[in-house]
Amino acid sequence: MFYKCYVGLFLLMFKVAASIENGFVVNGNFELGGGAEFSQKGLFRLTNSSTFGVGRAFYSQPLNFKNSSNGSSVSFSTTFVFAFVLDEDHLPGQGMAFMIAPSKNLTGALPSQYLGLFNSTNNGDPSNHVVAIELDTSQNPEFGDINRNHVGIDVNSLESVKSAPAGYFDNENGEFKSIVLSSGEPIQAWVEYDAPETQLNVTLAPIHTSKPSLPLLSLNIDISPIILEQMYVGFSSSTGQLVQSHYVLGWSFLLDGKAPELDLSKLSFFTGKEQSKRKGRDPLVVGLSITGVVLLIIATISILIILWRRKKAEFTEILEDWEDLQTTHVAGTLGYIAPELARSGKPTPSTDVYAFGAFCLEVACGRRPVEPKTSAKEMILVDWVYSFWMEGKILSTMDPKLDREWKAEEAELVLKLGLLCSHGVAEGRPRMSQVLIYLKGQAALPENLNAHVKAQEGRGESENHAILCYSSPSLTITNSLISVGR
Ligand SMILES: *[C@@H]1O[C@H](CO)[C@@H](O)[C@H](O)[C@H]1NC(C)=O
Ligand SMILES: *[C@@H]1O[C@H](CO)[C@@H](O)[C@H](O)[C@H]1NC(C)=O
Ligand SMILES: *[C@@H]1O[C@H](CO)[C@@H](O)[C@H](O)[C@H]1NC(C)=O
Ligand SMILES: *[C@@H]1O[C@H](CO)[C@@H](O)[C@H](O)[C@H]1NC(C)=O
Ligand SMILES: *[C@@H]1O[C@H](CO)[C@@H](O)[C@H](O)[C@H]1NC(C)=O
Ligand SMILES: *[C@@H]1O[C@H](CO)[C@@H](O)[C@H](O)[C@H]1NC(C)=O
Repeated sequence: MFYKCYVGLFLLMFKVAASIENGFVVNGNFELGGGAEFSQKGLFRLTNSSTFGVGRAFYSQPLNFKNSSNGSSVSFSTTFVFAFVLDEDHLPGQGMAFMIAPSKNLTGALPSQYLGLFNSTNNGDPSNHVVAIELDTSQNPEFGDINRNHVGIDVNSLESVKSAPAGYFDNENGEFKSIVLSSGEPIQAWVEYDAPETQLNVTLAPIHTSKPSLPLLSLNIDISPIILEQMYVGFSSSTGQLVQSHYVLGWSFLLDGKAPELDLSKLSFFTGKEQSKRKGRDPLVVGLSITGVVLLIIATISILIILWRRKKAEFTEILEDWEDLQTTHVAGTLGYIAPELARSGKPTPSTDVYAFGAFCLEVACGRRPVEPKTSAKEMILVDWVYSFWMEGKILSTMDPKLDREWKAEEAELVLKLGLLCSHGVAEGRPRMSQVLIYLKGQAALPENLNAHVKAQEGRGESENHAILCYSSPSLTITNSLISVGR
C-alpha cells in the first residue's frame, strides 16, 4: 500500500549501561540500526514528523517469560521515560505502545491508529500473542477509544481491555491529576506484572514526581495463555495524517523482580522544543502564497477533469445557477472562509486548503457552500454532506445534474477530500502537497478519516461564525480559485 513503513526490521543493539540477569537498564544510551534515529541530543527517536510512519525498537535478545514446566508466566517489571513532541502547533498523532511480542518482525502491521502493532486483518487475533500498553493520543471510535489522551492495556487488539485518561493519583491527597501525553515534557511510566497475583499495573507520572503508589490502571489478568515462552520487549509507535515525534529517553526491565530505577540525572533531556530546524522542511507550506496558488490551480483542474469530463461532453453550454459569476462570488466567498481566517483575517496555507475543500464540495454537489434559504439541516453544505456520509449515503449528495455520469470511487474521493479540507480546525486539514497525492491516486485517504473529520469541536458553529464575518477578510486565493473554475 501507500504507507511509508519504516518498519521495525531494524535490529537494535543497546549499549547496556548495567547488565543484569533477565533484564537490562538503558539510560538514553542506545545504539540503533535501520530506520530509527538519534536526535541531535543523543535521544532515541521512534518516529519523526513524517506522515503514516512506523517506528519500533526492541531489546535485541528474547527473554524467557515462562521458565517453569507448568507454562505459567513469570512476573516482570519495567519502567521507561518517554516524550511526545509535536510538530509545530499541530494536533497530536498517533501514539506509542510498550509491547511484549513473540517476534521483532511485525511486517504487515499498519501505522496510524494501528500503532504499528496490528492491521485490520489480524487486530484481535489471539495468534498475535501480544500484550501492549498503549499511550494513545488519538481517539479511534472503532477501537472504543475513550479520548485523545489515554493509556490502555491491549491484548492482541487495539480495543483496550482496560483504559483510562492519562494521569496519576497524587501521593499526598489521592487526587487525580491529568497528564498531557503530547506536551513534549518527559513522562515516566511503570508497567508491573505480579504472576502469583495475576495482576498487571500501569502507572504514569511527570518526570521527577515520585512514583504514585496508586496505579493508573490495575487489571486482574493471567498473561500466561497469551504469551509464548520466548518473548521480545520493545516499543512501537506510529504517525498518521497527524504526526509527532516519539522519544524514549530511558528504560529498564527485569523478569521476576523490580526493574532497576533509572538514573534520571543521566537521561538526556529536552530543553524546549527541538523543532526549529524542521520549519523549512516542507517548501510547499512555507512558500505559501505563490506555491499555494499554483497547487490550487493544478488540483482544481484535476477535480474539474474528474467531474466534468463526461458531463461537459454532453451538455456543452449549460450554465448552472452556482456557476453564475455574481452569486458564486458572493455566496462562494462566505463559504470559503476558514473559521480562523474569519477571526484573524490572516490567510495561511491552511485557509487556502479550507477554501479548496469548499470548492470541491460545491462542484461535486452542485450547491453553494451556504444555502441561506433552505432548512437548517441543509444550510451548511459541509454539514449536509457529512450527515449523508454518516448515514452511509455520501454519493446521494452528488449533483443530480451530473446524471450519475461519474465513477463512484472518484466522486467519493472528491467528497471526502472536500470534507477533510473543510476541517474546522486548521491543524486537522491536510497540506496541499498531500491533497495532490490523494487526487493523483498515489495514496488512499486515511483509514480513520471519519473519526478525524468528526473530531472537530463545534461542527457547524464555525461556519456560522464565518457567515457573520464574511465581509472583512480579503481573499486573493478564493478569487483566483473561482476564476480558475470558469
Ligand atoms: C523520517 O524518517 C524517515 C525514515 O527514517 C526518513 O526517510 C525521513 O527523511 C525522516 N523525515 C524527517 C522529516 O526527518
Ligand atoms: C527459572 O529461572 C531462574 C533463573 O533463570 C532459575 O533459577 C529457576 O530455576 C528457573 N525455574 C525453572 C522451573 O526452570
Ligand atoms: C508454576 O510453577 C511456578 C514455579 O516453577 C510456581 O511458582 C507457580 O505457582 C506454578 N503455577 C501454577 C499455576 O501451578
Ligand atoms: C518478516 O516476516 C515476513 C513474513 O511475515 C517475511 O517475508 C520477512 O522475510 C521477514 N523479515 C525478516 C527480517 O525476518
Ligand atoms: C496483517 O498482518 C499479518 C501479520 O503480519 C499479515 O500476515 C497480513 O498479511 C497483514 N494483512 C494485511 C491486509 O496487510
Ligand atoms: C498493583 O496495585 C495495587 C494497588 O492498586 C497493589 O496492591 C498491587 O500490589 C500492585 N501490583 C503490582 C504488581 O504492582
